This record gives sequence, structure tokens and C-alpha cells, in this order.
Amino acid sequence: MTQPLTIALSKGRILDDTLPLLAEAGIHPAEDIHKSRKLIFDTNHDHIKLVVIRATDVPTYVEYGAADLGISGKDVLMEYNSPNLCEPLDLKIATCRLMTAALKDRELPAGRLKVATKFTGVAKRYFAEQGRQVDIIKLYGGMELAPIMGLADLIVDIVDTGNTLRANGLEPRDLISDVSSRLVASRASMKVKYNQIQPIIDSMAAAVARRDQ
Ligand code: ATP
Ligand code: PRP
Repeated sequence: MTQPLTIALSKGRILDDTLPLLAEAGIHPAEDIHKSRKLIFDTNHDHIKLVVIRATDVPTYVEYGAADLGISGKDVLMEYNSPNLCEPLDLKIATCRLMTAALKDRELPAGRLKVATKFTGVAKRYFAEQGRQVDIIKLYGGMELAPIMGLADLIVDIVDTGNTLRANGLEPRDLISDVSSRLVASRASMKVKYNQIQPIIDSMAAAVARRDQ
């Protein structure tokens, strides 16, 4: 008998790009996810279920084995930073960049920098690699406001079109990482459930490759 398998999807922006890709890989939710308040969905495959959770919770479900596979932004995975997770496939959706940004034309102070971000782990590691002393200030959204209000010299945030930065008088400075969404699995379940997981990776890889043609 085929063992049941659960895929954890990030709700919000990534979900909009995920559902068409899943469909191209032959996985269809049994009902319209956008129209439902449910968090768990059957699919056209008897053994595959989808759960829809906050983007930042996906690595946790996968690491602890509550979900067998997940779909997460590279930014979220970098922040979660677990050696127990692996990324078998770049889905090339929800692409953007993780960058530093500051007020336009504003010179940064020479000494310690105040950096506002929700990506505190990423920021700590990045500035440590740069040999730069920083105070990291944790925010949960609207990072662009911090330099305007004098709360921070720099922010670390997602940039896509750059419109949010421009609209607030900021400019991108340094690229920390290109970001796209990844299929994520735990190293343990890749071994234990290889026979269930690998065909899903293969069909999603084929869907991604078809898009590249
Ligand atoms: P939550 O609602 O759980 O706090 P969030 O507001 O960051 O999370 P979304 O805005 O849906 O959730 O973003 C989720 C993911 O989508 C990010 O982690 C990133 O990988 C990607 N993303 C975020 N902003 C953009 C953007 N402007 N363009 C493309 N991808 C983006
Ligand atoms: C994301 C991100 C930036 C913006 C970047 O915000 O935090 O603010 O998108 O995109 P842009 O370069 O195309 O303007 P989002 O809209 O998800 O809002 P939130 O992070 O405050 O929830």
C-alpha cells in the first residue's frame, strides 16, 4: 500500500505561484483552496494531502516530520537555518532578492550600524561575514519605515520591483541573496520515505523544466 504523504504549502504570495505549478505536476486539490477556510486538503491522489500554513511555519512542520515535503521561500529557509533540512528542488517561483537598503543618498555612519529586519539570523550572519559591527532590531513588517523614523540606519528586506523602497525614499544597497521558493524535505524523511517522495520531486522537476523551455 502507498503510504500517506503530506505537502506543506506556504499561504499568501507563494501559494498563488504554487497551485499552478502543482497542477502542472498533476497534483490538484479536491476543492478550491482560496475559497475555503480549511487548512488541510485532499487531492486527486488518494495518498497525497496538502496543508496550507504560514510561510514561516513550513520548515518547522517539515523538520519535525509532521509534513513530508514543504514549499518555502529561500529567505525563510535561510532564516530557519536548520542542518536537518534539504532543498531537493528550486521551484523558481516567487522570485525576489534579499537586500540591504537605506535612505536614498544617505551615507552610513562609520561605527556600529543599527539594522532593522525580520530576518535577524540572516542579518547577523551577513554582517559578521562583512566584519561589520551591528545592532539588530527585530521588526515584524513595514521595515521601510525604520530608517525614516530614525530607528535604523539600514534594513534587510525582500526587494522585488523596488517600488516599496522607492515609494518610501529608500534605495537598495547590497544583495544578500537571490530568493525563490524551494521544495524542502527533512534529511530523515528523504531516507525513510524515499519511494514516496522521489516521484513527487521528479514530477515537480519536470514541470519546472517545461516552464524553462
Ligand atoms: P507572513 O504573512 O507569514 O508574515 P509574509 O507577509 O512575508 O509572511 P508573503 O508576503 O506572502 O508573506 O511572502 C512570503 C514569501 O514570498 C517570502 O518569504 C518570499 O519568499 C516571497 N516574497 C515576499 N515578497 C515578495 C515580493 N515582493 N515578490 C516576490 N516574492 C516575494
Ligand atoms: C514585501 C517586502 C517588501 C515588498 C517588496 O512586502 O517585505 O516590502 O514586498 O516588493 P517590491 O520591491 O516589489 O515593492 P509585502 O507586500 O509582502 O508586505 P509585508 O512583508 O509587509 O507583509
